[in-house]
Amino acid sequence: MLNTIQDRQSRTRRPSRAVRTTGSLVAALGLAALLSGCQRSDQTLFLGDMASGYNREVFFMSLWAIALSVIIFVGVSAALFYTVQKFREDKNPNAPQQFHGNNRLETLLVAVPVVIVILLSVLTVRSMARLNPVPAGTPKIDILGKQFWWNFAYPATTADAGGVVTNGNEMVMPAGRLVTLNVTSGDVVHGFWAPNIGGQRAAIPSVVRTWNVDTDRPGVYQGNCSQLCGASHANMRYKVIALSQERYDAFLAAAKAYRAPAPAAGSAEERGYNLFVNGKPETGALACAACHRVQGTPAAGAAGPDLSFFGTRRTLGAGMWEGDKARDMLEPWIKNSPEVKPGSLMPTYDGSEYTVSGKKQKGGVLTDDEIGDIAAYLRSLRLPDDADYWRDTPVIKNISAPGGQQ
Ligand code: CUA
Repeated sequence: MLNTIQDRQSRTRRPSRAVRTTGSLVAALGLAALLSGCQRSDQTLFLGDMASGYNREVFFMSLWAIALSVIIFVGVSAALFYTVQKFREDKNPNAPQQFHGNNRLETLLVAVPVVIVILLSVLTVRSMARLNPVPAGTPKIDILGKQFWWNFAYPATTADAGGVVTNGNEMVMPAGRLVTLNVTSGDVVHGFWAPNIGGQRAAIPSVVRTWNVDTDRPGVYQGNCSQLCGASHANMRYKVIALSQERYDAFLAAAKAYRAPAPAAGSAEERGYNLFVNGKPETGALACAACHRVQGTPAAGAAGPDLSFFGTRRTLGAGMWEGDKARDMLEPWIKNSPEVKPGSLMPTYDGSEYTVSGKKQKGGVLTDDEIGDIAAYLRSLRLPDDADYWRDTPVIKNISAPGGQQ
C-alpha cells in the first residue's frame, strides 16, 4: 500500500521548490481568508472556571486522581530503576531468585492497586452524590439541539399568549444557584458544552439527560456543540447568559407577558410581518411562520428557532455572528442562509437551490426590499429594556488570562 503510493508519487513529476512554496503560501492565505470569513468568538471556553461549583468539585476530584497517579508513577519508576540496577546481568551471572509463591509479596502487589481503585471510586461516588441530586425548586431549562442550532425552553413558564417560553441560541439562567438542564436532540447526536458553567452532556435523540450547572459570576459565556454532527458542527454555538436572580426574574416575567408588538399600518415592519406570516405564494416564497414561532402571533412553527425576542438577541446563525456583524448579516442570512452557513436547512429567498432531506429544491423569490422588511420586523421583536439580558452583562472573555474578564 505504502509502496504503491510512493510509486505513484514518484511517477508524477514533483513541482519545483518555487512552485511548491508559492502553492503552500496560496493555500495558507486561502485558509486565512476562509477563517476570517467566519467571525471567531473572542470568548474562550475554560474548563477551570472556579466560579462554577461543578468545576470546583471536578477540579478537587482531579487533584486526587493526579496525586495518586504521581505516586504510582514515582513508585513504579523507582522499583523499575532499582531492579534494573541491582539485577544487571553483568553483575548477576545466575538467574535471579523468583518470587512465585511468595504470598506476602503477591498479596501486597494485588492490595495496593485495589486500595487505589477503591479510593478513587469512593471519591468519584462522593462527587456524584454532591453533583447529581436535583434539589426541589431548581429552575429548569429544556434544551433541544438540532442541525445546527439550540432551543432553550423554560418548562415552568407558560407564556400569556400560549405555549412555553423559549429562546433560540441564547440561554438565560440565574447566577448563584443550581440550574437543572434537560438536554435532548431532534435529529443526530450533539454535545452541549459550556465549560464555564459545568460539565458537558451529549444531546441524544429520544433520550433526555439531566444534570445541574451553576456559576457564581453573572456574565455572558460561550457554549459550543461538542459532538461532530454535520457540515455546520463548528457553527452550532450559543451563549449562556447568567443573570442575578433579580434580573433573571425580570427576564422571565417579561418573556411570559410578551406579545409581539402590532406593527404600525403602512410601515416596513407591517410589510415584513405579512411576508413572515404568509410568505409570497405567487413567487413560491415560503412563510417564515411555517418553521418559526413568534409569541403572540399566529406564527407557531417549531422546526426552526423561536424568534419571539429576536430583536433582543445579539447573535445570529446559532452564534456564528455576534454584535454588529450579526446585524449586518441578517439580510444575507434571510436571502440565502445555506450559502453563508453550510448545511442550514432554511429555504432560500433568492431563487437559488437548497437541499431538504437530501432533495434539491428551488427557493422562492423575495426582492431585497422585501427581505429588508422582514429584517425590520424581526428587529422590532424586542423584550422591554429592563428585561434585556444583554444590557450591562459583562462578557466573560478569557478568565484564565490576567485581566481577561471584561
Ligand atoms: Cu451539533 Cu456538533
